[in-house]
Amino acid sequence: MIRTPLIIDTDPGVDDALALMMAHAHTEVLALTIAAGNVGLTHTVRNALTLMERIGASTPVYPGCPVPLVRAPSEDAALVHGTDGFGDVGFPEPARRAETETAALALVRLSAEHPGATLVALGPLTNLALALRLDADLPSRIGRLVVMGGAVNGHGNTLSTPAEFNIGFDPEAAHVVFESFPLLELVDWEASVRHAIDEQTFDRWLDAGNERGEFYRRIGATSRAWNARRGRSGIIAADALAMAVALDPDAVLRSECHPVAIELEGGLTRGATVVDWEARLEHPANAKIVFDVDMQRFGSLVARALGAA
Ligand code: BDR
Ligand code: CA
Repeated sequence: MIRTPLIIDTDPGVDDALALMMAHAHTEVLALTIAAGNVGLTHTVRNALTLMERIGASTPVYPGCPVPLVRAPSEDAALVHGTDGFGDVGFPEPARRAETETAALALVRLSAEHPGATLVALGPLTNLALALRLDADLPSRIGRLVVMGGAVNGHGNTLSTPAEFNIGFDPEAAHVVFESFPLLELVDWEASVRHAIDEQTFDRWLDAGNERGEFYRRIGATSRAWNARRGRSGIIAADALAMAVALDPDAVLRSECHPVAIELEGGLTRGATVVDWEARLEHPANAKIVFDVDMQRFGSLVARALGAA
C-alpha cells in the first residue's frame, strides 16, 4: 500500500465520492482539483465541499475549467448520478468555500511543492491538459498518474459507442494528457465492469458501516436504480477501482503496457481510446492498461472507506 500523498482531479459524482472516501481513509490527500463532467462545475465543486464536510476533511478544493477544451460536450451523466451529481438527496449548501486559485494553476504549484506525489484523475482531463500546456515539465514531478478513463476494446458507455465518458467528454484534453505522460496507469470502463462489486456484499458493508456508509447509501441510490433499470447487477464503481490501483498497486494482478491514442475526429468514434496492441506504428507504450485487480484487496479498501472494516 502506498503512503505517498495524493492529488485528485475529480468530477463528483457518486463513484468519485467513494474513491475520495477511500483515499481519505488511507493516506494524505493534498488537494482536490475539480472538473466538470458528470454534472456542471457548480455542482461538482459543491459536491466536493459537501463530501469533505461530511467526512471531516480539510482538503482544499480547487475549481477547474467549466467546459471542455474545444467542443461542447454532447452529454453529461446526470441520468446516472442525479441532476446534482449526488443523487438529488438535497443536501444543504456547504459552509466551506472553494479556494480561489484555479485547478490548473494549483496542479502546477502542488506538483512543484510535492514532487513525486501520485496524481489520480477521476474525471474528464481538462484541468490536467491545461496544466500541461502551462508547464510541459509537470510529468517529471508526478510520481504516478492513474487515470480512470477509456474503453480499450471499444465497449464504451457513451453515445459515441466506443468512447468512455471521461475521455469522450473532452477528447482533446485526453489527447494532451496521453501524449505528455511517458507512462500513465489506465483503469478503463471495461475493467470497471469486470470488477463490479456484488450488491449483497456491498449492502452488508453499508449496513455495517458508519455515517460515511450511510452518506454513500443516500447518494448512491439514484445510480443503483438507474443500473437496475438497465438490467445491470453489481456496483460498477469505476473511480473506486482506479483509486484502489492508486492506493494498492500490488492489488493489480495483470496489466500490459501499450501505445494508446485518442480519436479526435471519427463520426462514430470520437473519444475512443485506440490501442496499438501489436505496436504496428512503433510508438512507445504510454499506458499501462490494468486488466485484473484482486477483488479482495479492492473490497477491503471500499469497506474501510464506508466504515465497515
Ligand atoms: C466515469 O464516468 C463518470 O460517470 C464516472 O464518475 C467515472 O469517472 C466512468 O465512465
Ligand atoms: Ca468521475
